[in-house]
Amino acid sequence: MVEQQLNEIIQKMTLNEKIGQLIQLATPFFKGASDKGEITGPMTGMGITDEISQNCGSVLGASGAREVMNIQKAHLEKNRFGIPLLMMADIVHGFKTIFPVPLAMGCSWDLDLAEKSAEIAAKEAAVSGVHVTFAPMVDIVRDPRWGRVMESTGEDPYLNSLFARAFVRGFQGTNLTDDQNRVAACVKHFAAYGAPEGGREYNTVNMSERQLRESYLPPYKAALDEGCEMVMTAFNTVDGIPATGNKKLMRDLLRDEWGFDGVMISDWGAVKELIPHGIAEDSSEAAVKALQAGVDIEMMTTCYVDNLKQLVENGTIEETLIDEAVLRILKLKQKLGLFENPYRGADEKREQEYILSEEHRKAAREAAAKSCVLLKNQSVLPLNRHQKIALIGPFAQNGDILGPWSWQGSYEEAVKMDEGIKMKIDPALLTVAKGCDIETGTENEMNMAINAASEADVIILALGESSAMSGEGGSRANICLPDIQLQLIAEVKKLKKPMAAVLFNGRPLDLHGVIDQADAVLEAWYPGTEGGAAIADLLFGDANPSGRLSMTFPYSVGQVPIYYNHFNTGRPKTSEEYVRYVTHYLDIPNEPLLPFGFGLSYTTFSYTDAMLSADTMNSEQPITLSVSITNTGNVAGEEVVQLYIRDVAGEIVRPVKELKAFKKIMLQPNETKEASFTITEEQLRYHHENLQFTSDAGTFIAFVGRNSQDVSALTFKLVN
Ligand code: NOJ
Repeated sequence: MVEQQLNEIIQKMTLNEKIGQLIQLATPFFKGASDKGEITGPMTGMGITDEISQNCGSVLGASGAREVMNIQKAHLEKNRFGIPLLMMADIVHGFKTIFPVPLAMGCSWDLDLAEKSAEIAAKEAAVSGVHVTFAPMVDIVRDPRWGRVMESTGEDPYLNSLFARAFVRGFQGTNLTDDQNRVAACVKHFAAYGAPEGGREYNTVNMSERQLRESYLPPYKAALDEGCEMVMTAFNTVDGIPATGNKKLMRDLLRDEWGFDGVMISDWGAVKELIPHGIAEDSSEAAVKALQAGVDIEMMTTCYVDNLKQLVENGTIEETLIDEAVLRILKLKQKLGLFENPYRGADEKREQEYILSEEHRKAAREAAAKSCVLLKNQSVLPLNRHQKIALIGPFAQNGDILGPWSWQGSYEEAVKMDEGIKMKIDPALLTVAKGCDIETGTENEMNMAINAASEADVIILALGESSAMSGEGGSRANICLPDIQLQLIAEVKKLKKPMAAVLFNGRPLDLHGVIDQADAVLEAWYPGTEGGAAIADLLFGDANPSGRLSMTFPYSVGQVPIYYNHFNTGRPKTSEEYVRYVTHYLDIPNEPLLPFGFGLSYTTFSYTDAMLSADTMNSEQPITLSVSITNTGNVAGEEVVQLYIRDVAGEIVRPVKELKAFKKIMLQPNETKEASFTITEEQLRYHHENLQFTSDAGTFIAFVGRNSQDVSALTFKLVN
């Protein structure tokens, strides 16, 4: 079907039918649906009539081939033009085979792996009838109090942009029409949702346009450059105007400046939320503002269906605005091949074959192993397989390792930690005791754990946050482990035995009480379905940790927001000595506990001979930075070589360092490889006072090293 035919349909549609395309409702509102769909927001008092659900254009949260086909069939039986429903859902990091949460994937610094994970998620979702996933979430995150940091790949605009592209490639492939194992992607949350004040969910975002363009917008742009089909608005305000009613953001920037012509959907209820935000007095005004700003589909509230007809009739809204939105939606349906085959990939037989297949589980295990970050290791790991192990803690046998955005994942299918360990050793050598629950516990449980630990040669603590403690609506002001778990560590520590902690959590935590007590700490995040198996691979040395933090771990919550690419200030702290009038805290260091890019391995790497090919460059003549890396330990390992650059004096203050490139290299013991990076003028550009994206001639420092702090510095000049 060509655009002209779609336009012909639009011309024949009644105004109500057209407005219907602009609403999205959750599964339970549809005929043919079970009531099990994904419910991720408030749902009261919606007043959905049969006519509204019959005209509705898309469904939120339906999945399962049978159910989706039932819904589509019932819908088409009553649709005059045979316009199929779009089935959308949150397939964030896996469908039923759950991959590590995006923050963990970010720590893999492995783009192929990220692409593969999205491809597998798409395949499982597509056979289950899903057409569009609400992913990737690419918001820059600098405040670990915010529960949704686990949903982003981290704090860095460059790294997040690369991951945004990788995920979009994986979800969408190269031909959505013919490749029915793929789904359309919807990048979110436009814009700057990752910067709520105080880290409190849904809170105000206030930032300059330059900061928005410099740090927060690049990952969304990268997703769109990769061909991402849809964009979701954010819940927050941006410069005083809620994103969902923000014309400057959507019409001026997204559509006019960036040329985005795909479908824009509001987040759940965000159109109606223009009322409590305080830019609309009622649902009619909310509808006007959202549509005029550029929202095509209203998710889960009814401002459009309740008001647009009247607004067109009284001349407030031009009908062409509605027609344009409908056309964009129909074009997406057409691109997905739904007019020809409304059931698309949905297939009960293939569902059995693909979902949780051995191949998918294998990929999830590899991803989990590569996403874990070894934060400390004082000669405890890898473990010797012949010693007695006590596995202690609320995550010892817990399936809550999938993360808060895995609505189709099942705890039963998840490989728990004890199961993973039993794959590696004689089960008789393992004793398991919970010690406490995640937030509460009894003296008896604690005593049992101490008894178990006292019999063992080595103790593994399995600790963390429940998945409900992060994710949407999961902000925390205190980002330590719950007290009861800190108490458990302290009690077990008294036994003076070697002790390794494995952490399951959705945010960088304040690790006091953990990192100072345990001899080794492995950050496992929410590793997904194969979590226990992958962790056991790492604990016993069948895999070597290679993850590097893509988000800073603060020294304490008092430092947040904290991020490596900050400004220097006019009074930087340059020595350990106390000087009053410099930027510092009196009671804690300025430095984070663990910096961006940090992660240990079971081997060690040395960096030598860092050099530049020349000490000046210009836009025609880039320079090359090279460095030799040697594996100086006894086992093979993967290093992430990181290149940062600082513009020493710009028209605008520039960050102390910005990640510009990285390379993952595998090295056998004693092997040396050279990593080289080309530095181009383009990499030195930034947004100037007039928002032009250009570079300044002058001095720059290139830093190369194993993380954002441990680097060698080389100076060069950019000349005109
Ligand atoms: C609200 C969340 O903010 C968004 O990320 C999600 O896609 C929608 N709900 C739909 O579940």
